[in-house]
Amino acid sequence: MASEQKNVGILALEIYFPPSCLQQEALEAHDGASKGKYTIGLGQDCMAFCGEVEDVISMSLTAVSSLLEKYRVDPKQIGRLEVGSETVIDKSKSIKTFLMQIFEKCGNTDIEGVDSTNACYGGTAALFNCVNWVESSSWDGRYGLVVCTDSAVYAEGPARPTGGAAAIAMLIGPDAPIVFESKLRGSHMAHVYDFYKPILDSEYPVVDGKLSQTCYLMALDSCYKTLCSKYEKLEGKPFSVADADYFVFHSPYNKLVQKSFARLLFNDFMRNASYINEADKEKLAPFSSLTGDESYSNRDLEKASQQVSKPFYDAKVQPSTLVPKQVGNMYTASIYAAFISLIHNKHSTLPGQRVVMFSYGSGSTATMFSLRIRECQHPFSLSNIAAVLNIAEKLKSRHEFPPEKFVEILKIMEHRYGAKNFVTSKDCSLLAPGTYYLTEVDSKYRRFYAKKETNSAVANGH
Ligand code: ACO
Repeated sequence: MASEQKNVGILALEIYFPPSCLQQEALEAHDGASKGKYTIGLGQDCMAFCGEVEDVISMSLTAVSSLLEKYRVDPKQIGRLEVGSETVIDKSKSIKTFLMQIFEKCGNTDIEGVDSTNACYGGTAALFNCVNWVESSSWDGRYGLVVCTDSAVYAEGPARPTGGAAAIAMLIGPDAPIVFESKLRGSHMAHVYDFYKPILDSEYPVVDGKLSQTCYLMALDSCYKTLCSKYEKLEGKPFSVADADYFVFHSPYNKLVQKSFARLLFNDFMRNASYINEADKEKLAPFSSLTGDESYSNRDLEKASQQVSKPFYDAKVQPSTLVPKQVGNMYTASIYAAFISLIHNKHSTLPGQRVVMFSYGSGSTATMFSLRIRECQHPFSLSNIAAVLNIAEKLKSRHEFPPEKFVEILKIMEHRYGAKNFVTSKDCSLLAPGTYYLTEVDSKYRRFYAKKETNSAVANGH
C-alpha cells in the first residue's frame, strides 16, 4: 500500500565533531608504524577524539540543539526521536532520555522512540524507524529526529588509528530534499564475531580486523546483488554502478571504501555491465573463474579492480570522503558524515541525482539503500543545509594535539569509563559557544552536563 505522505526523507542535517584532533602522520611516527601506513595504507588524514569533558551524550545534545536552532524548528514539532549508538554509557537508560532535557523544557514529553544498537548500523536502524513512522498510519504530522552518536576508541594496537568521534542529527518528514527510494533496498544480516564489545567495563571492542574487512565486503556483495535484483524486477532492466550518481559507504577508514567501490565494479563486470570497456574487461577477465571466497583474498584482483574503478571512484565516491578522512570512524555517524561531505562538495548539482548508500555494522547487519535528491525551499534547501553544516569552518577551527596528549586522555577515559564520583576539569576553552560538556558524574552515577554560552557562563551546571 502506498504511503499518503510524499517524498519522505531527510529534511535537514547537523554534524558535531570534537575540536580535539591529531594528525595521522604524527600518530604513525609515535606508534613506530612505517611512514605512510595510516595515511596511505589506511587512507586517513586526521582523527577527532573526545576530550575529557565530552562524550556521546554531550555531542548529541549539541547536534540536536544546534539543528533545532539553526533550522528554526520548535522542539514541540518533534514527535519521534530515535538514537543510534554503540557507545554504551548505561545498560538501561537510553541516550534518547538524556536528549529529552531539550524537549521537556518546552513542555514536549510526547515523543516516541528509544536507542538502537548494533555496532555501526544503529543509526541506519534509527533512520529507517523514523522514515517508516512518517510513512505510517501512526504519524501525527510532526517531525521525526534521528541522532547518530559515537566515540570510536580502540586499545593500543593496529586498530587505534581507525578511531574517531561525532554526532549527527537528521530531521525527518515529508516533502524532503533527500528522499528514500524505499523499494530499492538490499540487506544482509548474519552471525559473525568480527567486532564486538563483550567486556562491559571497557569502552574498547574486541576486534578481528581482517575478518571484519572480509565480512564488510561479503555483506556489500550480498546487499548489492539484492538491490540489483529488486531494481530489475521494478524497472525491467539491470542495475549497475552507472545507474547512480554517487555511492556513499560506511567508512571505518578510506582504504576500505576504495576497495568496496572496486568490488561493486567487479560485480558489474561479472554481470556483463555495458559501461565497462573492452580494455577494462581484459584486466578483470583473469579473475572471472575465482570462487567468491577466493576473490576476497586475491590481491591481484584487488589491485586490478581498484585500477579499473579509479576514474569512476573519483567521480562517484571521492566527493563523499572528506569528513571521514578528517575525523575518522564515527561508527553510527560515519556513513552520514560521508553523505554530509557529498552535500558540502556538490550541493548545487545534487538535485535530480541518485545516491546509493551502504551501511555496515559488525556482528553483522548491513543495508544498501537508495536516495533521490530534490530541490526544496529554504530552510530545507541544499544550499542552506550546506551552509548550516559549515564543514570547512568546523574542520579549520579544530585544535591539533600531539599523540602523547591523545594517549594521556585515553588513559583518563579508561579510568572514567563506568566510574562514579568525579568532576571533570570543566575546561571548555576549545569548545564553540553552544556546545554541551560533561561537568560531573555523582555518587549515584548520574551524569550532569552544561552548555557553553556565548559569554562562557555555565547555564545549567549541577
Ligand atoms: N605505506 C603505505 N601503505 C602501507 C604501509 C606503508 N608504509 N604499511 C602498510 N601499508 C598498508 C598495507 O599494505 C595495508 O593495505 P592493503 O589493505 O591495501 O593491503 C594497510 O596499510 C593496512 O595495513 P595492514 O598491515 O594490512 O593492517 P593492520 O594490521 O595495520 O590493521 C585494520 C588494519 C585491520 C583495518 C585495523 O586498523 C583494524 O582492526 N581496524 C578496526 C576494524 C575495522 O575498522 N574494520 C572495518 C569494518 S568494521 C568497522 O567499521 C569497525
